[in-house]
Amino acid sequence: MDTSKITTKFKELYGAEGAVYTAPGRINLIGEHTDYNGGFVLPGAIDKAIYCVIKPNGTAKVRAYAPDENPQLVSLSSEFGLEEADRPKDRWAQYIFGVCREMVKRGATIPGFDILISGDVPLGAGMSSSAALESCVGFALTDTFALSFDRLQLALIGQATEHNYVGVKCGIMDQFVSCFGKEGSLIRLDCRSLEYEYFPFDPKGYRLALINTCVAHLLGGEYNERRESCERVVAAIAKKHPEVALLRDANPCMLKEVANQVSAVDYIRAEFVIEEIQRLLDTCELLKKGDYEAAGRKMYETHTGLSLKYTVSCPELDFLNEKAKEYGVAGSRVMGGGFGGCTINLVKDELCDTFIAKTTEAYEKAFNIKPIVYNVAIKDGAKKLNV
Ligand code: GLA
Repeated sequence: MDTSKITTKFKELYGAEGAVYTAPGRINLIGEHTDYNGGFVLPGAIDKAIYCVIKPNGTAKVRAYAPDENPQLVSLSSEFGLEEADRPKDRWAQYIFGVCREMVKRGATIPGFDILISGDVPLGAGMSSSAALESCVGFALTDTFALSFDRLQLALIGQATEHNYVGVKCGIMDQFVSCFGKEGSLIRLDCRSLEYEYFPFDPKGYRLALINTCVAHLLGGEYNERRESCERVVAAIAKKHPEVALLRDANPCMLKEVANQVSAVDYIRAEFVIEEIQRLLDTCELLKKGDYEAAGRKMYETHTGLSLKYTVSCPELDFLNEKAKEYGVAGSRVMGGGFGGCTINLVKDELCDTFIAKTTEAYEKAFNIKPIVYNVAIKDGAKKLNV
């Protein structure tokens, strides 16, 4: 993104130059809804990011501005203090406020500042625009005010912002990859221990294409409900197996033992999660061997599980998945929290153009919505920009 527009706008608004920071959105190749169950994920930071321009303003207030023409923004500017009672009304400003509050709770002193937020991570597309915003603000504040938070703490601060100020009981995947992303590598993250490994990803002869259904995806109630299902199953299993604290610790036999103690819905959701954690490990082995066709088949299995067992797909996503199968795409599935957003497709180079052309045409005909296609590149995590 060309940042000259936002630096110029910042100067026009606040009469001084500010420093520019950025943090990316993400893809996730496989391992969905596993993070809050202590399992593994395989995300990568992408070349779509949130940017901010920031400068201390010598007061105790935050003045925030978001110039994007975005229907989800109620108003474009917001001014607020940093006491708990000062919570701003606008949802976008609550992310900034939440990050500040979580930092204050961890002992930081944050003076007033001016901030302008922009970016090109599409909202509601399952690419984690909100985690990118949290990581960008967290990173910018840490650098601007010489705070002592490291990248892991910043990821945890972003996650806590979601939990306490946005109301989404998310896992750690999105914030972690936005802070730790590395060009050319996915991250195999163990969400229980938070140990991670960079996983070089350069599928020769294949492309990664995202197709956005453009169906709104706002995580909230439905997402938290999935998490509660998992927690109820863990509680049932832990009665006999107290060492089980998360679904990551459970196996299919343990799940079967509680079949009569949990609801059918909870059971099948937990079954998906246990399978998905194993599927990720199997997929990593296939990727190491360079067997992208077999890894792609795992992605289809994930889609089926997310659609039929975890029920976080929708007709639009299922349609795109079917088309991918029809055109011989190696792997395709709903990406991120679900309920709309994008499919991620691992496509052989020579198939890609036809698949995209035919699928977008058919999708538009079926739903009267023009889907958006993104070819993503895997990039670095949060950083300061020298402009
Ligand atoms: C959202 C959440 C993540 C993760 C995914 C599903 O993106 O923010 O923590 O749970 O959904 O894998």
